[in-house]
Amino acid sequence: MMTKKEINRLMGIEPTNYEQENKNNMAYWFPLLQMIRMRIPDTILIHTGVCNLAPMIDNKEIPGLDLFIERLRSAVEEIGLPCFLRTGMTSAKHGWKDTCFIESSDKKYLISHVYRLVEYSFMANIIGLPLDFSIWAIRRMIPTYRLFTDFNEMPIAKERRLFIRDSKVVCNHPYWPADCFQRRHAEEKIKELQYLSVQDNDELKAMAEYVGDYFTGYWSVDFLQDDKGKWWLTDMAVGERSYHYPNCEILNRMNTESNKREEKNVGRE
Ligand SMILES: Nc1ncnc2c1ncn2[C@@H]1O[C@H](COP(=O)(O)OP(=O)(O)OP(=O)(O)O)[C@@H](O)[C@H]1O
Ligand SMILES: [Mg+2]
Repeated sequence: MMTKKEINRLMGIEPTNYEQENKNNMAYWFPLLQMIRMRIPDTILIHTGVCNLAPMIDNKEIPGLDLFIERLRSAVEEIGLPCFLRTGMTSAKHGWKDTCFIESSDKKYLISHVYRLVEYSFMANIIGLPLDFSIWAIRRMIPTYRLFTDFNEMPIAKERRLFIRDSKVVCNHPYWPADCFQRRHAEEKIKELQYLSVQDNDELKAMAEYVGDYFTGYWSVDFLQDDKGKWWLTDMAVGERSYHYPNCEILNRMNTESNKREEKNVGRE
């Protein structure tokens, strides 16, 4: 019988790189951002501890669930409503008001949001282990200037994704590609969403490079603009595991260069 590894190789599926996956977890990057006093929303991280949430998706009873939800509830009350909920790995943002947007500290309401995030974590990695959901974050909501709503009432505001490599910004993209939305929006709104002033560009570059001094290698860093124009760092991920515009010239140049390096190495064998 073929092993899972052999099946994946045959299907062209890359094996999960768990070292890289762990770096995407908030448990890895959040404490360091806090230590260097980056502008990040107030956040309480909670570990599930002995409570294993996985059997939730089979509607099984979860020992310790009440205590875990009680810890979440007290964090929600400390941060204040509404607030943002995610696991260390994902927010299932496309489900917004049923997933990461929290406007009540009611026990049943919190359980239903936790359930959706656990379910999403299984679906997000159907070919391997589910995304880790042992770390949960309750975050203060950043008030934004919403241009429109999409994805189950999510307010869409100006947001950027910068890629840094060895402390240097390599590129800076709008977080939301123009064609990613579920609903149609006026062209001027999309243009405004994707516009970045020189001043904002300089500010983001400085913030990302500062982060780069503490995170070696290749990273993506996401920033959300608040309703006063200030930028907040919301999310990070290892560069190789981050959505990157396929038509990005810099990405394509990097890929060609690394292909050339690989070809050279093959030639040497
Ligand atoms: N504290 C917050 N206040 C307001 N909106 C937020 C907050 N945190 C996140 N968001 C919104 O939710 C989106 C998803 O959040 P986040 O990046 O934490 O989740 P993710 O699942 O890791 O996303 P990605 O797919 O970019 O990796 C953000 O891009 C932003 O629009
Ligand atoms: Mg992320």
